[in-house]
Amino acid sequence: MSSRLWDKGLPMDQKILEFTVGKDFILDARLVRFDIEASIAHVRMLGKCGYLNQAETEKLVDTLLLIGQAHEDGNWTISLEQEDCHTAIESQLIVHAGELGGKVHLGRSRNDQVLVAMRLYLREVVSLMRGAIKNVTGSLEKLADQQGTIAIPGYTHMQQAMPSSVSHWANGFASEITANEALLDAADQLANLNPLGSAAGYGTPGLKLDREFTTSVLGFSKTQEPVTACQLSRGKAESALAFALVQILNDLGRLSSDICLFATQEYALVKLGKDVSTGSSIMPQKRNPDVFELIRAHSAQASSDMQAIIALTAKMTSGYHRDLQLIKEPLFRLIDRTFQVAEITSHALRRIEFDPERAKEITDPSINQAEEAYALVQSEGISFREAYKRVAEQNM
Ligand code: ARG
Repeated sequence: MSSRLWDKGLPMDQKILEFTVGKDFILDARLVRFDIEASIAHVRMLGKCGYLNQAETEKLVDTLLLIGQAHEDGNWTISLEQEDCHTAIESQLIVHAGELGGKVHLGRSRNDQVLVAMRLYLREVVSLMRGAIKNVTGSLEKLADQQGTIAIPGYTHMQQAMPSSVSHWANGFASEITANEALLDAADQLANLNPLGSAAGYGTPGLKLDREFTTSVLGFSKTQEPVTACQLSRGKAESALAFALVQILNDLGRLSSDICLFATQEYALVKLGKDVSTGSSIMPQKRNPDVFELIRAHSAQASSDMQAIIALTAKMTSGYHRDLQLIKEPLFRLIDRTFQVAEITSHALRRIEFDPERAKEITDPSINQAEEAYALVQSEGISFREAYKRVAEQNM
């Protein structure tokens, strides 16, 4: 027997199956846990609305919990023939609960199932991401605590501009990294709408379902209405999250670029610990900042992941389309990339050392000229423009 839900006994061309499924059966592994959670809420709702009796409801819930645990333990995986996590879970349900398993799909479709599972996943990602960026800012705060008083030049146009310090430098990045929380909030808000009950995209005529019930069980802030909005919104929370992650990675990329520059022999402002730099196969003296170069490279590739997500829904007509499936690969890659890069950044930042002597050596005394002009304004009551001219003339 075929495991496809929509199978009507007609042969399926293997080539077409492989093409349409793509990597979905592999990528969906991370959605199993969330589909189980949403399926349990759906089953309880069917019970509450009288479509399942109490014994059926409890049996289905128990079996779903069991299936979820078995997946976590590695006892089953989604097969290509099953196409995705939704079909795989229903097949498992039928294996373990027999005909009763066939009752679970009343009033839902894979179209709202994938929406709800993805949103539960995105909400978890947003919450874990807040922790991941806190670790990075924690490392920056530690750097500021331990080496913050070291004076370093502040640059504009890559030219020495004004006096700065390690704490000024580190706190600036920490503050901007934290500011990305506002973008995570936006993604969270978009993911916080319950699409379950929209089914294929047009609701469930003839059935009396309680959508508010699953909204509250799953902890969503609202039921998404009208049902026609649900499919139109697929990709939106994903895009918002992608934008937030790109901004986080951009901040980490710029931080890394500074460190690569500061670690050159010409600057020599930063020493990279042995455990954070890498050697060369030909030049024995080399200690390279590969870690920071790669962080920067990930930040560059991140925007192509984001573009792949945003571009997908452009100009698509309303309702579900299989195109939407392709959001997963760039989205998951971007999420994994960001967690990995945030973790390595907080690790590596604890292993860099600014050199206070070298910082003095490279700082041009002219760096204080703006301050000298400010002093003249205050001591002599002249205009800033006049003070600027005097300081410039004195230093010609
Ligand atoms: N794997 C599909 C996706 O990610 C699930 C929904 C399939 N629905 C369908 N009508 N073919 O979009």
